[in-house]
Amino acid sequence: MKELGSTVEDIYLQIKNNYHLVETDSYRNQFHLMPSVGLLNDPNGLIHFKRIYHVFYQWNPFETEQGVKCWGHYTTKDFIKWEMQPIALLPNNWYDCSGCYSGSAVKSDDTLYLFYTGNVKDENQKRSCYQCVAISKDGINFEKKGPVIFLPDGYTTHFRDPKVWKADELWYMIIGAQNDKEEGTVVLYQSDDLIKWEFIGPIAGSNLNGHGDLGYMWECPDMFKIDGIDILLVSPQGIVSEGIKYNNEFQSGYFIGKMDFAANKFEHGEFTELDRGFDFYAPQTMLDESGRRIMYGWMGMSDGMQKYQPTIKYKWIHALTIPRKLSLVNGRIYQEPLEELAQLRSSIIIESDIKFNQEQRELCIHDYKTMELKIKYNQAIKDEFQILIRDNVRIIYSALKNTFTVERKNFKDDKTEQRHCNLENLINLNIFIDASSIEIFINDGQEVFTCRFFAEDNEKDIVFLSKDEIEFHIIAWQLNQLIIENCIPELKI
Ligand code: FRU
Repeated sequence: MKELGSTVEDIYLQIKNNYHLVETDSYRNQFHLMPSVGLLNDPNGLIHFKRIYHVFYQWNPFETEQGVKCWGHYTTKDFIKWEMQPIALLPNNWYDCSGCYSGSAVKSDDTLYLFYTGNVKDENQKRSCYQCVAISKDGINFEKKGPVIFLPDGYTTHFRDPKVWKADELWYMIIGAQNDKEEGTVVLYQSDDLIKWEFIGPIAGSNLNGHGDLGYMWECPDMFKIDGIDILLVSPQGIVSEGIKYNNEFQSGYFIGKMDFAANKFEHGEFTELDRGFDFYAPQTMLDESGRRIMYGWMGMSDGMQKYQPTIKYKWIHALTIPRKLSLVNGRIYQEPLEELAQLRSSIIIESDIKFNQEQRELCIHDYKTMELKIKYNQAIKDEFQILIRDNVRIIYSALKNTFTVERKNFKDDKTEQRHCNLENLINLNIFIDASSIEIFINDGQEVFTCRFFAEDNEKDIVFLSKDEIEFHIIAWQLNQLIIENCIPELKI
């Protein structure tokens, strides 16, 4: 870890020493997974194994900066009651000593396999990378088996984040990569035993398949089917912003297409951003036993704003998104909050049919630290509708411009910044507000905005304003906290 060779006990001591401070932070979210101390980034190894959902994550327990990572581990049966499990992977071997980087999980027979990237930096910061495997029978204790893939010719050492799945009795792995021309790409491998892997070649990338320049590095790929259609998720770095598109420093999005394994070709359409907010990166999915495609993302990214997050002085930073169910509607990915989250609802804050008319075009409700809000418009908005949250985030739908905008005060100097998407009609909203985050699901998940925000008072009002006369139904609940057991693991020293 920070000092190479840190042990599980060092990490548990770190938690024991800092968790009390972390807990006092009023920006600590209530219904999102976060690191107990230190920095969390990508969701890793998502899997439903022996009826338990496993969410692993990139974790630097020692600092609130990127650095040497281990795999933290949470488990749940219902997405409400969680358990913090022992650290799954610790960077303590020659092939992963500068970090057990991102990867994925699969089950074969009775065994859980974790695939991850062993990151190694020598004294001159020269990087090497190895795609490694670790196995487990109980899903809790992992035995590392070492590297199964070494860097092939034609690629730089930015070669990482293996995602493995099975199709037609064969195992496939995709890896996020940068080729020697410094173009982001995704490469495919194939195996029949999960140990010996054959290099197939790039299946998508910057300047590949006729899609132009899409950045210098592609991270965290994921490939799956929804309704028989192949989808590739990826997090490219270096895409130049274009009007209201690609406004974050790094992107996460998807291609819809057809994967032809016989020809080793993935024919696909345009790159589409998955989330239009400020803080969303490195999403990963799993298929659960009921057939749902469930996605978590990192509610953050390693951009220039990270260091201004106020939680740093409480010795923690970042969170995962809420879990989302993916579906395909008219050739686009829709995201909906996982239905289990309805169990978090406690008291109803408001449930009402609202009529904005000549006299009244404003409604103010008292905000609580956590809230789920649903709005259904009974008629089309003709002009503009706004929601102001804790004097910090403003949502603006303009029917005149056909745009949906989310505005927040930036963490550095309180200046207003915006993200947008085009939207022809606003039909409904489902909004999840936590102590320091907001996730806005528009029109049953057609578009989503995910943002962190740090309001001065996280129990302030929420104000609804309209320029039109309009009728809508509103319901809002206060949400309970997730229950997380074993946040301070027992020290066995
Ligand atoms: C994405 C990423 C991955 C890498 C991991 C390291 O956020 O850069 O490519 O494996 O984070 O923590």
